[in-house]
Amino acid sequence: MKALSVIPETLLLLLDRIQSEGRCKTPLILTSKALLEYNYRCFCSLLPVDAVFFPVKANNVPEVLVCLRDQGARFEAASSDELYLLLHTGIASSDVIFSNPIKSPEHIARAHLAGVRTFAFDAASEVRKIQRHAPQSEVYVRIEVSNEGAEWKLHHKFGAPGNEVVGLCTAARDAGLVPVGLAFHVGWNNGRLDSWSRALQHSVQIAESCIRQGIPLRSINIGGGFPAHGGDQYARLKDIADVLRPTLRILKEELGLLLYAEPGSFIAANACVMVCRVLDVMQRRDQAWVYVDSGINQGFYWIYAGVKYQVVAAQPRSRQTRSYVVTGPTCDSHDIFGEAIELPADLREGDLLLVFPAGAYISSARNYNGFAYPAVLFE
Ligand SMILES: Cc1ncc(COP(=O)(O)O)c(C=O)c1O
Repeated sequence: MKALSVIPETLLLLLDRIQSEGRCKTPLILTSKALLEYNYRCFCSLLPVDAVFFPVKANNVPEVLVCLRDQGARFEAASSDELYLLLHTGIASSDVIFSNPIKSPEHIARAHLAGVRTFAFDAASEVRKIQRHAPQSEVYVRIEVSNEGAEWKLHHKFGAPGNEVVGLCTAARDAGLVPVGLAFHVGWNNGRLDSWSRALQHSVQIAESCIRQGIPLRSINIGGGFPAHGGDQYARLKDIADVLRPTLRILKEELGLLLYAEPGSFIAANACVMVCRVLDVMQRRDQAWVYVDSGINQGFYWIYAGVKYQVVAAQPRSRQTRSYVVTGPTCDSHDIFGEAIELPADLREGDLLLVFPAGAYISSARNYNGFAYPAVLFE
């Protein structure tokens, strides 16, 4: 996978400042409030969204959630623990949608008790669960769309086929629920324009058939998947907005629907960099190895799925480079950021390395999606 981006100047200046103030204790996920705010504003100015629901799974740091709330974001939770985190952060349950299409009954009941009234679903079995544990709630159907072009595909796991949607909405209505919309996700880091335009056209066609069948939908949620790793994310979002514009006109002006989105990576990824410290540099057989004080097991699990991160020296002394294996501190031999990373030839213990982008799916990798690790029963 190709996924390297340039570290924003804002983060480098922030690093200089915290170093000069003696506050750079590694390992550290350095997070720029200014970049988060900038990304949020860019997103809303490039796409005519009526609401942004920030997915907590992308970054669950309370300060990040508060910052986005203050910008006007609403939130998408995948579990009751994610919801409780939002509530503790001062976010109102009326600003939260519950998006996991397949949910445990306990999570639905807790969310309903806390005041959440909007749930995703993609199967008739889920209608029965929501009817029972969150009666009279609003529901929206996650539909299946092509994930062609995505660096990480999501469409095998979730999404109802288009021809089942009217039936699912009817079943929901018969169960006393209120079908209000459709949602899709084109897969992570998807810059392929025809995938975006086909997904939106497909969902607009489905919305039209729902409306013809007397199911008055209110919104289409175009999910996440906006490119954030690799290339200029702002230019790439503008290209997506351009290709979606004709269909968005139908969605808004002809059908009178609201446009929602759930950008996770676009908002958070480039707002953070991991700062780690070199523990040792050594030659093992024919390779040079760099050991740093934080590795894949501290949140960079997507490396196992092929996602690449940029690793650079924070303050290189020499311009001469050589190729290193960069590895974390654990005894796990898979704990490797990359096997041929170019870094200064004179790298040594105590130097700082930067791993970028580190804002999406890294701090939140602990109890990911708000699902706790299994308890241990010992007897
Ligand atoms: C339902 C839902 N919405 C939004 C997102 C955020 O996606 P991204 O980080 O690609 O913007 C995800 C990510 O998995 C998701 O599952």
